[in-house]
Amino acid sequence: MKEKIEQAAAMIQKRSSVQPRIGLILGSGLGVLADEIEEADVIPYEMIPHFPVSTVEGHAGRLVIGRLEGQAVIAMQGRFHLYEGYPLEAVTFPIRVMKRLGVEIALITNAAGGINESFQAGDLMLIRDHINFMFRNPLVGPNDSELGDRFPDMTEAYDADLRRLAKGVAEKLGIDLKEGVYAAMLGPSYETPAEIRMLRTVGGDAVGMSTVPEVIVARHAGIRVLGLSCIANMAAGILPQPLSHEEVMETAERVKETFLRLVKGILRELPGR
Ligand code: 6GU
Repeated sequence: MKEKIEQAAAMIQKRSSVQPRIGLILGSGLGVLADEIEEADVIPYEMIPHFPVSTVEGHAGRLVIGRLEGQAVIAMQGRFHLYEGYPLEAVTFPIRVMKRLGVEIALITNAAGGINESFQAGDLMLIRDHINFMFRNPLVGPNDSELGDRFPDMTEAYDADLRRLAKGVAEKLGIDLKEGVYAAMLGPSYETPAEIRMLRTVGGDAVGMSTVPEVIVARHAGIRVLGLSCIANMAAGILPQPLSHEEVMETAERVKETFLRLVKGILRELPGR
């Protein structure tokens, strides 16, 4: 795997003079943020050695490297999901490459379903913690101790200082930022009402089909993580209507202005710009 990481990183470094310190993973409908990156080098995934290529609608499938709010950033516009059939190694490969490029902080975003009944579609949620209901772990297999520990600690997977910073920024900007636990399911079918009741009972506030594999690998690699969910719809059984991917995309479209303000505000306040 190290060879592959090297080759992908070498190609990206050849294409861009920026040394990114912040990695952004942009979820469904939230990729617009990458369009605001200045002096951008745009690299389609298919040009990067060993990078998987994404297939879902609403995911552009490219890396954008440049400057945003004074920070050197690398953004994934479009991510890889387990439900697409990619192995975990492919889903998390971009995190390994980001680490190799010098990324220290990952801002990982997603569109999620609201489980907590005090949420509503369009809310933004700071991820405090997660529950891995995918029942798969990207670190299974022999451990390369140069990449990280065999048994990484997950007590503060979502960095406490970064969470404090995000809450402060939201308050300053007058953005209502919820906070909660993200439960990750394999998908691609949405959950049943019974599954949502189960997730609520065990402490889930939002449910989605991404993020957890990337966060596990980021922590293994020693990258600090900030997670943000856009509550795109309420999960099954809460409201009378059925769930649809269209609703997810529509809500993301509706809240993207607020989402952009929040993320840019966070970037402005991160150390080291
Ligand atoms: Cl309700 N469930 C899952 N698993 N992912 C989602 C979602 C729900 N809404 C947006 N993404």
